[in-house]
Amino acid sequence: MAQLSATLYTSHVPAIGAAMDLARDGDAYWKPVFDGYAATRQWLAANTPDVVVMVYNDHATAMDYSVVPPFAIGVSDHFEIADEGWGRRPVPDPLGHPALARHLVHRLMASGFDMTVLHRPKVDHGLSVPLSLGFGRVSAWPCRVIPLMVNVVHAPLPTAARCLALGQALGEAIRSYGEDLNVQVWGTGGMSHQLQGPRSGFINSGFDRWFLDQIVHHPTALTELSHEAFVAQAGTEGAELVMWLVARGAQMAFQAEGDRFDELQRHYHVPASNTAVGHLLLAHRALATA
Ligand code: DHB
Ligand code: FE
Repeated sequence: MAQLSATLYTSHVPAIGAAMDLARDGDAYWKPVFDGYAATRQWLAANTPDVVVMVYNDHATAMDYSVVPPFAIGVSDHFEIADEGWGRRPVPDPLGHPALARHLVHRLMASGFDMTVLHRPKVDHGLSVPLSLGFGRVSAWPCRVIPLMVNVVHAPLPTAARCLALGQALGEAIRSYGEDLNVQVWGTGGMSHQLQGPRSGFINSGFDRWFLDQIVHHPTALTELSHEAFVAQAGTEGAELVMWLVARGAQMAFQAEGDRFDELQRHYHVPASNTAVGHLLLAHRALATA
């Protein structure tokens, strides 16, 4: 049976990837950002998953704005890293897990989530930056990756409540996979940031710190947040935080069956590019030693 060894939450700022690719992560500006991931990297090296389900938003890379499904899963065995306009990142292409991905599609459809199936999506910084933060500079990623895309770019967006429910169904779907696999679900994006308009550069650390506490201890309460509330309190792109609820929902499904998870790492730093960086690692209690 597949097991959930951890859920991980992180911002996916493209400049973080550029800092790593240009070996600037030791610079005074970047060091405090990366220092907050050192313990996580160490833990992941000792507890490398077989598969990461990466919950992220496509930034008009795999799909242009003419078609943006609420939820989509990449089912191929290989995903090409996209050129987002400044050259392809010099990181390996992620390999997929078609059998688990197709299982998830079927189970999620049966649970009432009409997933769009993507056969050959290119993947952007939303997926590659979290991998770099978790695994560092590598010649091949140490695990398979299943891209799970959530529309947070084109109204109407799925609600926070729908994202938590998707996560719960995702957790149940992972649990029902027959093969022994070590799976993790990573929720990406946020924290507060706004890239456009008169409020561009907006950060709200009070909201971010509250959100970090809530997602760990009271995830269900976060479903009361409307998109308008996310935009008002966390900036237009702060609405990416609904994707953290998918990962947390998956963990709730395992907790409902008696699994316990501990907070092994929490990190918050402002700024990285235009964004407040937030990160959490919630690890299965059986593995919860650093
Ligand atoms: C930035 C952050 C994002 O989440 C993103 O998708 C693009 C840019 C930024 O801070 O510059
Ligand atoms: Fe983003």
